[in-house]
Amino acid sequence: MCQWLDRQSVLLRAPAKLNLHLEVLGRRTDGFHDLETVMVKLDLHDTLLLRLGEAANSNIDFRCHYASPFFEVNSSSPPPIPTDSSNLVIKAARLLQTTTNSHRDIQIELTKRIPVQAGLGGGSSDAAATLVGLNELWGLNLSIPELEQLAAQLGSDVPFFINTHTAAICRGRGEQITPISVRGNFPLILAQPKTGLSTPAVFNKWSENYSKSSSRSVKPIQQALTEGKTSTVSRLLFNALQVPAEELNSQLMQLTSLFRKFPVPGTLMTGSGSCCFGICHSFRQAASLSPLLRAARIARVCVTSLHHKRMHHGYHRSSYQTNG
Ligand code: C5P
Repeated sequence: MCQWLDRQSVLLRAPAKLNLHLEVLGRRTDGFHDLETVMVKLDLHDTLLLRLGEAANSNIDFRCHYASPFFEVNSSSPPPIPTDSSNLVIKAARLLQTTTNSHRDIQIELTKRIPVQAGLGGGSSDAAATLVGLNELWGLNLSIPELEQLAAQLGSDVPFFINTHTAAICRGRGEQITPISVRGNFPLILAQPKTGLSTPAVFNKWSENYSKSSSRSVKPIQQALTEGKTSTVSRLLFNALQVPAEELNSQLMQLTSLFRKFPVPGTLMTGSGSCCFGICHSFRQAASLSPLLRAARIARVCVTSLHHKRMHHGYHRSSYQTNG
């Protein structure tokens, strides 16, 4: 995840995620919902370049540019990403700055490929990468559990991205993580309708209409992932937020009914939407179906797969380590 380029800079890969199973267990008194969800990391990723400045004025110089692999549905540009303190990357840097009393200036360059308001966890992953990268650059030596604790203050999905495991069951708000093993690549088509969805709006819609007493077990899909049984995983795909999300977004409803007609083993919406995915038999099938989906002109489309940890991407300290 974190690679030193020289003594002043690190490069980080911030992967997107999918929820292959998402059960909402109930609404909590703090306004959040208790979840049981299986999340997997994807090859689709943002990139962050973090560079240490010379001065110690606590300055954060943040820049963001797009390099979207998603085929645009028309010529409209993607929604702008805030570069002020409302961006999770800046929030992560400020949180680490204040909790550890680190003042060295930093420059952050974010290359954005993961679409926003998609349920792909792009903002959360960028925030986690910022914590991991600055822990290295400032020489803070925070442990993974310490970073996960800070991450949970930034958002429910952020702790999942601190570590490098491919998949995990996430419980509580999403911050209690149990890594699980996964075999296989899972060729995937992602399709995002033109309009996104607000996470609180989707959860509220669920609360109004879908509260129930019994829940669907995570065990069968966990076992199928561990054994690399693509067809079983595809059959077990489940997202309790999909129906409420479809009720809020007619384009999503149109997209999911089209997707279900495709000869793929399984399709689902990820997280609180609005991106949907199809698990394909092969990369060849993903490549041949994606132009058909694009031709319907209702979604941006991208082909990807699971991201498996490689040794050189592991979270480790290298000989370029500085003392911040
Ligand atoms: O934690 P995060 O900032 O990503 O959550 C955004 C919103 O999504 C919350 O304010 C809440 O409305 C909803 N949410 C929820 N239960 C969760 C996670 C998110 O209700 N477990």
